[in-house]
Amino acid sequence: HRHLLGIEPLHPLEITELLDRADHYATLNREGRAPRDVLAGLTQINMFFENSTRTQASFELAGKRLGADVMNMAMQASSLKKGETLIDTALTLNAMRPDLLVVRHPNSGAVDLLAQKVNCAVLNAGDGRHEHPTQALLDALTIRRAKGRLHRLSIAICGDIAHSRVARSNIMLLGKMENRLRLIAPPTLMPSGVAEFGVEVFDDMEEGLKDVDVVMMLRLQKERMDGGFIPSEREYFHRYGLDAAKLAHAKDDAIVMHPGPMNRGVEIDGTIADDINRSVIQEQVEMGVAVRMAAMELLARNLRAERTGTEATA
Ligand code: CP
Repeated sequence: HRHLLGIEPLHPLEITELLDRADHYATLNREGRAPRDVLAGLTQINMFFENSTRTQASFELAGKRLGADVMNMAMQASSLKKGETLIDTALTLNAMRPDLLVVRHPNSGAVDLLAQKVNCAVLNAGDGRHEHPTQALLDALTIRRAKGRLHRLSIAICGDIAHSRVARSNIMLLGKMENRLRLIAPPTLMPSGVAEFGVEVFDDMEEGLKDVDVVMMLRLQKERMDGGFIPSEREYFHRYGLDAAKLAHAKDDAIVMHPGPMNRGVEIDGTIADDINRSVIQEQVEMGVAVRMAAMELLARNLRAERTGTEATA
């Protein structure tokens, strides 16, 4: 692959290969031994058209740990404000010959469109409610490390599934790896047609969480509920917020995940989020750096091979 735009085109063996490499980088990161030459001589530009803490910081750190020259475009201060389009902005940066372009955009499909216009590798850092591939990969690595495997697990994804690119990428990845998926959401936040993905659908937390190995909570994404129904936070927490009583229905050793940013007291009780015996939320963040290192290394390798091939035939 030239780009990493989504989980959809990835084969299970490619996912496993990427996770193996990321696991290796997780070990090197803990030992402070990340190799600085892997992306040496390459230029990485991060373009975030939507706010981010984890994804932006970890892509930047990942690039720096592997020796890339990393530039963060301050999109709020760019010429977009003067009417320049997304594509013209991308073509302008492309003319400066970057090798890796990391892009987050509020519109679904915007990153795919941009990837067609540039001649470097593009990594999707989240586009609208479409895909967030590196999030699904870091979630998968976290699950694999906690559970010792990434197949035949019972995994519940809970909350605002309708507006979630994280849910969409995770449903595809965890489905490809042959896990049993349960989606739990109020009917207003459950997308139609999800049953096609071979998942079980619930609108009751206690029923949906019964005997699961993994509980993945999602934030209410009000910024994408344009004009639609927004539930009251108190009522939502009562029915769908993860607290000790609801978690008791999962397996005793079930892990709790959240991609962040989280809203304590809305979709998750703070004491559950902070419980180091159950919550792997901080490990997810740590794995984010390792997964992004592995993804950029792989794309850089493909890009170098493509360029060498082009030069050989020129
Ligand atoms: N999980 C995630 O994408 O977080 P950020 O929006 O902070 O990057």
